[in-house]
Order: sequence, then C-alpha cells, then structure tokens
Amino acid sequence: MRQGSQGIVGSFFHAPQQGQLEILDDVLIVVGDDGIIAAVLSPDHPDRMREEIRLSDRLHRLPQYQFGLPGLVDLHVHAPQYPQLGLALDEPLEVWLGKYTFPLEAKYADLDFARRRYGVLVDDLIANGTTTALYFATQDREASKLLADICIDKGQRALVGKVVMDDPAACPDDYRDMSAEEAVADTRDVIAHIRNHPRNRSGRVLPVITPRFIPSCTDAALAGLGALAAECDCHVQTHCSESDWAHHHVLERFGITDAAALDGFGLLTGKTILAHSNFLTDADMDRLIARGAGVAHCALSNIYFANAVFPLRHALEKGVHVGLGTDISGGPSASMFSACLTSVQSSRLLEDGVDPARPAPERGRANSAIDLVTAFHLATAGGGVALDLPIGVLAPGYHFDAMAVDTSAEDGAIRLFGGESPGDIFQKIIYGATRANIANVWIDGVPVRVRPTAAA
Ligand code: GUN
Ligand code: FE
Repeated sequence: MRQGSQGIVGSFFHAPQQGQLEILDDVLIVVGDDGIIAAVLSPDHPDRMREEIRLSDRLHRLPQYQFGLPGLVDLHVHAPQYPQLGLALDEPLEVWLGKYTFPLEAKYADLDFARRRYGVLVDDLIANGTTTALYFATQDREASKLLADICIDKGQRALVGKVVMDDPAACPDDYRDMSAEEAVADTRDVIAHIRNHPRNRSGRVLPVITPRFIPSCTDAALAGLGALAAECDCHVQTHCSESDWAHHHVLERFGITDAAALDGFGLLTGKTILAHSNFLTDADMDRLIARGAGVAHCALSNIYFANAVFPLRHALEKGVHVGLGTDISGGPSASMFSACLTSVQSSRLLEDGVDPARPAPERGRANSAIDLVTAFHLATAGGGVALDLPIGVLAPGYHFDAMAVDTSAEDGAIRLFGGESPGDIFQKIIYGATRANIANVWIDGVPVRVRPTAAA
C-alpha cells in the first residue's frame, strides 16, 4: 500500500452491469491517497489482505450489520428549487415555472439567501448517499459560482451549470439573461471560475453548459452555447421532450424533434445529459447513441409534469446511456433510493400484458418492466457512464465514492429478522434505506459525513 492510502473492510453490493448484482463479501478495498480504488481483495487471499492491512495508514472496518454501496449519482437536480420541495405540484409545468419557480430562483441573486439554502441542500443530498450531483443552478452568474464553491468546500462530486434563459418572450424581465452574448459570456466566466478554483485542483467539481430548455432560449443563445461546448469540451445539460407543451413548442418552432434541434445547435455531445426525454423517437435514440449523449430519467417528476413514462427498457435495449435523477423540485424527493423505486414502479405501469395467450387491453408497451438491480445500476454505474466519469462501481480505477448502510438503525426503515440472504438484504436496503440508515459517506475516499449518532 502506498503512503497515504487506506483500507476499508466489509461487505459491499454493487451492480457494474444491468440486472447483475455483485456481492463483495468481506473484502478489503484499498484506496489510494488520490481517492481512487487501487485493489479489491477477497478473503481468498488472506496473506495479501493481511499485508495490505499492515501497510495501511488508516483502516476502517464496517461494523456488523453495516453494508457498503457505491455512492448514488443524481443526474438532475435544480439546486435552487429545494425550498419548494413538495409544493405547487398540482400546476402544469408552464404555470409552475412562471408562478413559483422563476420567482424563487430569482431570489438567489442575493448571495446570503443562496448560501444558506444551497448549504442545506448539499448537506442533505450527501446525508442521503448522493455522492455525485448534476446541478442546474440559477440564471445568476455569481450565485452559480457560489453553488460550485459550496460543493467544493463540502467535498461533494458535483457538476454545476449556470442556467441560460434569454428569450424575453418566455422569461420574465427580472429573471433572464439580457442577451445571448451575455448569456454565453457569463457561462464562460462560470466555467473558468470552476476550472481555475484553487481548492478544486482535483477537478471534483466540473462546469456544465446549461441552456434551461429550448423554449426559454433564443436561437442565438443555443448556437452560442453549442459553439462553447465544442470549444471548452465540458458537459452539457438541458431538458428534452419533457411535457407535451415543451415537446410541441420545439416541433412548431423548428419542425423537428427536441433532440434533433439540440443536435443541430451542437448541444448533443458525449458529455450531454438530457433530462426527461419522454417522447424520444427511435431516430432520436439512434442520434443520442451516435453522439454518446445520455438521459437523466426522472420517473417521479414525469408523473407530475409530463403525465408520461419514459420508455426506459426500450432505451436501454437500444443502447442509450441512462442514469436516474430526482429533478428536485419537480420530483418531490431528495432520495436517490426513492428514485430507484419510482423508476421500477413507473416501468411496471408501462408494461403491457405479459401472457401472449391473454393479451391485456393495450395500455403501454410490451417488455417495459425493469428490475430493482437495474434501477440501482442506473443510479450508480449508469450515471457514471452517462457522465463519462469513473464512478458508481467498486473496482480498481474507480473513485471510492461510497456509503455504509446501517441495517440495524432503529430510526431507519430497514428491518432484518435474521435468515435473510445477501440478496434479500440488498433489496431491503434499496426499499428501506433513509438517511437514518446511512452511517458514513465517502467521496474520493474522504469521509464527508459520519452520522451523528454513529459517533456516540
Ligand atoms: N423545464 C424547464 N425548466 C424546468 C424545471 O425547472 N423543472 C422541470 N421539471 N422542467 C423544466
Ligand atoms: Fe428539471
């Protein structure tokens, strides 16, 4: 073991492939001082394990009843919307944006207002086991920098985008970019701030080019951001084909689908994440695959604002990169465990009759259901593939972003009665884990949270 490296001993679950749970039983994970996993040693090699433990600077042993998981990757979070989590969800998307969301987001231009709320959000996401988050900040340049600074200081892996919304026909005058040029210049400034930040030398926090969605942007802004994406080689995020209203706006404006229009502006790249994407055609999916772009599947929010179910299994079978997102606050839960469950549940609602001898009245699409392990895969490894980052898997070469789940926490919602197989324990964790169960969270091997009661 190299100097500065550490060892974590315990049993871990991860899902490097769709539908395949791997149980790492009583292993030693060796993490270098760069936060990258150097080795995963099984008890089949007791001598090597003993030697690594002897050489380790620090050793953490998961106590009995604790199990390790890779950290969760939330591919779609509107950071400023956290204060309205659970509010105003009876409105349609376009009303919700204008009446509640834009006025709330506008308040973040006051950096003191922003600081407190962003701090609470980042702490809460980490406490829920979200080690990586892809954030929409707000239209305001300085508040977007502040969100990045807070993630840097709290140690969360984060991708942060200043939101671009410059079309005066769609955005209020007191909350928009005043021109396409200014929107692109401010985006460039935030990218430089994050990339040159003295405490972000590891690049754990990354910048993201973030046109809010086509309806809020002029053609000039979309073209300018596409050119910037090519120039800066940074991530891109936006909403795509979310609701009927948003989808039809693009069809009427350009005569082509949302995904095709984004591609025309140079906004579909190997580092692009499209939130929602409910109404992608097969040709759109082929286009995403050709570009290497990914989808942030936000199953809970889709129930509210899209009245739609993204055809997840079809997209996966075609080879689209997909991860999961909470879409705070369109999705009223900050938990990526909950995002896993909702993605399983909504996939079941789309499923047509499974017995060819007794065809059910048509209600969706055959072969739509996904299993729990696939949902967990998408919330971890799948998010990593979509972001093109080595995260979400507990194997050499990946960042050690992980959590320890305490299945015995009395104030948690996991109940083991004895006799459960490891696979049973995994299912109970995904169905029951709350922040009360999350005893430790590591990002790049650094303990970013130790549950307060665990220290007592
Ligand atoms: N489309 C444009 N902006 C938003 C937003 O803030 N939330 C959701 N769910 N959809 C959007
Ligand atoms: Fe969203």
